[in-house]
Amino acid sequence: MKGVIVTCLAGLVKDNFGRKKWEDALENAGLDRHAIFSATNKVDDAIVMKVVSSVCKVLNITPLQAADAFGDYWVNVYAPRIYGAYLQEVTTSKELLLRMDKIHETVTSTIPNAAPPRFNYKWGDSRTLIMTYKSPRGLIDFLVGLIKGVGKYFNEDLRVRKLNSTDVEVVFL
Ligand code: HEM
Repeated sequence: MKGVIVTCLAGLVKDNFGRKKWEDALENAGLDRHAIFSATNKVDDAIVMKVVSSVCKVLNITPLQAADAFGDYWVNVYAPRIYGAYLQEVTTSKELLLRMDKIHETVTSTIPNAAPPRFNYKWGDSRTLIMTYKSPRGLIDFLVGLIKGVGKYFNEDLRVRKLNSTDVEVVFL
């Protein structure tokens, strides 16, 4: 996976809990306390997952809480900073979510053998969107956290519900 996931997680932990906690999490994951990750390099998926579970342990939070915190930080703090171009000209949650499939394809197009998450869209009714998540990584809870983060970014009320391991229902209230 792109190193960007780990650099974002590092920002989240350092901003909210301090540098020491981040270093503890790295150490707990069997890595060097001062390991530096580059946003553009590829980081083994297994290492990313190890760091995520290590953060949960060090901060004493559940994987679901981590997924929500990550989604919020990614969409509201991190992406505007480094992926601002993708957020410009988009004015609603609906619009951004419908662009997600294309955005992930574009952003990872320079990485050889990249496997970005892909999304299919289906409308239940005029305000109910079902997003089907296709990724070998099984990070559906992160998807839910990210969609909640999108609602917050646009200051919109969304009802977000995981239906199963691939589908999330989003109701635009
Ligand atoms: C400007 C906004 C965004 C950009 C530029 C972006 C970019 C990326 C990048 C580069 C990755 C790593 C992919 C890889 O290395 O293969 C990633 C992962 C991911 N993104 Fe986004 N993302 C954005 C917003 C979102 C939003 C709003 C959602 C949910 C609706 C989302 C869902 C995910 C998920 C679930 C992953 C984890 C990887 C996986 O499950 O396979 N992203 N994103």
